[in-house]
Amino acid sequence: MMIRMMNITNKFYDKIKSLFIDYYKIYKKEIKKMFKINENYLELQDSYLFSTIAKKVESYKLEHPDKEVIKMGIGDVTRPIPKAIADAMHKAVDEMQNANTFRGYGPEQGYDFLREKIAKFDYEDRNVKISPDEIFVSDGAKCDVANILDILGNKNKVAITDPVYPVYLDTNVMIGTAGKYNNEKGIYENVEYIPIKAENNFVPQLPKEDVDLIYFCLPNNPTGTVLSKDDLKKWVDYAKENNALILFDSAYERYITEENVPHSIYEIEGAKEVAIEFRSFSKTAGFTGMRCAYTVVPKELKCKTASGEDVFLNKLWNRRMCTKFNGVSYITQRAAEAVYSEEGQKQIKENINYYMENAKIIRESLNKAGYKTYGGFNSPYIWLKVPDGISSWEFFDKLLNEKQIVGTPGVGFGPSGEGYFRLTAFGTRENTIKAMERLGK
Ligand code: MLT
Repeated sequence: MMIRMMNITNKFYDKIKSLFIDYYKIYKKEIKKMFKINENYLELQDSYLFSTIAKKVESYKLEHPDKEVIKMGIGDVTRPIPKAIADAMHKAVDEMQNANTFRGYGPEQGYDFLREKIAKFDYEDRNVKISPDEIFVSDGAKCDVANILDILGNKNKVAITDPVYPVYLDTNVMIGTAGKYNNEKGIYENVEYIPIKAENNFVPQLPKEDVDLIYFCLPNNPTGTVLSKDDLKKWVDYAKENNALILFDSAYERYITEENVPHSIYEIEGAKEVAIEFRSFSKTAGFTGMRCAYTVVPKELKCKTASGEDVFLNKLWNRRMCTKFNGVSYITQRAAEAVYSEEGQKQIKENINYYMENAKIIRESLNKAGYKTYGGFNSPYIWLKVPDGISSWEFFDKLLNEKQIVGTPGVGFGPSGEGYFRLTAFGTRENTIKAMERLGK
């Protein structure tokens, strides 16, 4: 009896031991030895702003298939590619079909024919000297704004204007420079938010703390407002005095109509020592679906390593592009080149005027309906104050449910955007008028 009991106890112990060993193996193999992820991503808020909106709109449409929804949310163009540009693409396609003119990999930095045109028409003609080898052609300003952090690393203190295009903040969260999210305040703890609001006339004040990287989008997305040369100069001077770098996104510069508004940060003296500029053909020439942009990294722009050696950013960015990018397609670059032809310029201007006429219609209709609006004079965005007592997301839901109009809630662009709402002028004329009629009722 005793022996039987001992056998049972031993078996029980063996079983426990083997279970323990199995669990230990699982632990070692599947938990302890698991591959790692970039946990900074877990600090990101929900989904990307425009995906959240798209999902909300899709579910509304599923529930109300009979309703016609007008989209004035994401700033996506609706005018077709101008003829001069389409013709250039057809020609490039023919070249690609011919063994004598076919092209394989192009230069990672972009073809000279395009870089030279950009240097001449976008800079020299505005009295700014930028050489073609300071221009890097890419598949989007959004990607470049994100990728630039590859060469800047994650040790910088970052300042963003608030509200602003969400990519600047999100990409800093991804690399860990933004710190933890403070739910109560709706901000990341390591980021300096510089409010731009009606109260300060949308002019950002210099940062309270010493910062290393300063993001600007001018004309501003989402407020549609701009800075004068004098106001921008204060920031260039600040960057020089504080060894900071300005990341200047001028994707909407072609929409500027007023004098004394800088199209490029390099119109400010000394800016080539402290700024990188991002430009895009998306909003200028209707390339949102074609993908072509460029980034200017001046050769003067340098930084010091921890051991005190000079490092030139143009060289670093070039190195990055050669390793991680194979260039924009030849056909697309020929299309972008055609933007600078006489016909191309005329035709893109017609489209820009079309959108700016929409902006006028939106502005005037909203004002008539009693809304206070900003922007829309030098940009295709209208920033409106939502009625007192409701949040910008509540206003979003109200517009979608009651008027079937989609806009973008201001708070999606930063905490200072709360109480505001963005409408884009990139829709068709017909939809813009229809939406304004619905709003007026
Ligand atoms: C916007 O709506 O803010 C922009 O279209 C988004 C973008 O350019 O990526």
